Amino acid sequence: MKPIYEMLKAYNEANPLPFHMPGHILGRGLTDEMKAAGSLDITEVPGSDCLHQPEGVIKDALMLTAQCFGSDYTFFLVNGSTAGIHAMLQAALDPGDKIILGRDCHISALNGLAQINCEPVFVLPEIDNAYRIPSGVTAAALEPVIKANPDARGILVTRPGYYGTASNLEDIAQLAEKYRIPLLVDEAHGAHFRFHKNLPQTAMEAGADLCVQSLHKTLPALTQTALLHGRNNGIISKDRIEKTVSMVQTTSPSYILMASIDIARDIMEKQGEYLYEKLRQLIDEFERKLCRDTGIKRYKCMNEGIENDFSRIVLNFEDIGISGFMAEEILRTRYGIVAEMADLNNVVLIAVPFHTSEDFDKLLSALKNITQEFGGMREPENKSILPLWPNFLPERAIPIRKALFADRHVLPISKSAGEISGSFITPYPPGIPLICPGEKITTDMAEYISMLKECDYTIHGINNGNIEVIKL
Ligand SMILES: Cc1ncc(COP(=O)(O)O)c(C=O)c1O
Repeated sequence: MKPIYEMLKAYNEANPLPFHMPGHILGRGLTDEMKAAGSLDITEVPGSDCLHQPEGVIKDALMLTAQCFGSDYTFFLVNGSTAGIHAMLQAALDPGDKIILGRDCHISALNGLAQINCEPVFVLPEIDNAYRIPSGVTAAALEPVIKANPDARGILVTRPGYYGTASNLEDIAQLAEKYRIPLLVDEAHGAHFRFHKNLPQTAMEAGADLCVQSLHKTLPALTQTALLHGRNNGIISKDRIEKTVSMVQTTSPSYILMASIDIARDIMEKQGEYLYEKLRQLIDEFERKLCRDTGIKRYKCMNEGIENDFSRIVLNFEDIGISGFMAEEILRTRYGIVAEMADLNNVVLIAVPFHTSEDFDKLLSALKNITQEFGGMREPENKSILPLWPNFLPERAIPIRKALFADRHVLPISKSAGEISGSFITPYPPGIPLICPGEKITTDMAEYISMLKECDYTIHGINNGNIEVIKL
């Protein structure tokens, strides 16, 4: 059953004469490539229901989605997990409140806090130091911070991370329960977890109060589609989250996006397990050949209590002496293989059930060629000389909202110690901000950033060796 999609098809097939939005009237005004999409692109008309007060096909589709994803209730998001994160924060917090936030959070969490003038109390994630890859925030790291901040009104963790690592969420949920504090989970990269037993447990299964998932990242759904899931006996009432979800969404949600959610859910419900089992077998076979025929390693986090998403393929190029950036460029420009992300040593690939064995053969053949061309030519570099990731957090000098809107000027990193940062300084890996807007730049931190630059790290927030600082 695909209630929204079926309604759209029926509406189109009835061949109506539309005198209503959108202005392209069922695709007539669109270019040829856009016409097919336009034929399903309608607005609220009799029978199409309303996302903000669902009583018909959208209500049915929401119930089917909640059942499929194992939640008590679900909301459709047509502006990605970003909107869902903002809705969760607005539901958990009032202006001026504090939240305990994993430092490995997505920027939407910090922007969401700035919108409601709330402050994060950060918790550092564990880092797999051998690879500089964050594996996630743990219960052990959270508990002392919860104890030290009894007035915090929520915990937000990001799980899984970009590299497919997932920390033990059941322990975190138990902690949240013990301290009666709502647990919000950014599960943007884990919408597929529900569909195979070898994938990490989902946030709802682990006991989160609320979670968001980007369907468009890993499931067969259009860009911007996402879900927000909740449970009836959670600390935040359904009524409250319903209001905040409505606040962050357009009053003209795209029916194409909602139908895409409907279709993706239907596919996953019927075939999810089978599709992910097939994918698991393909990836196992690929990994076996990768080990046998190339000098490239597949990264998996071995830290205790951390699970790895088998569909996230992190290729590590250290042993053949080329950077992840270079490998990404070679794969793209010579072989037409486009990765999700690269960092100094790794290339991150998102594999989905719609990849075929031919796709993996093509990838393997490219990796064999890269090994033959570069393997053993240069000594592996970088790893031994890189300093360990700092395990302290900078002091916050001004609130995040004030910092984001403050006037700023530019200084060389070498002269920035003692200043207040005006931007996020985020090296990749691990993609975690070293410094956030409004935080003080210490001498140690400025030296650390200079050292990373010397190792050719990509650092967002640093331009030509300069850093934006706030004018006081
Ligand atoms: C961890 C994480 N959370 C949230 C988001 C935002 O998701 P969306 O693009 O669906 O708004 C992203 C996007 O990359 C992300 O990586």
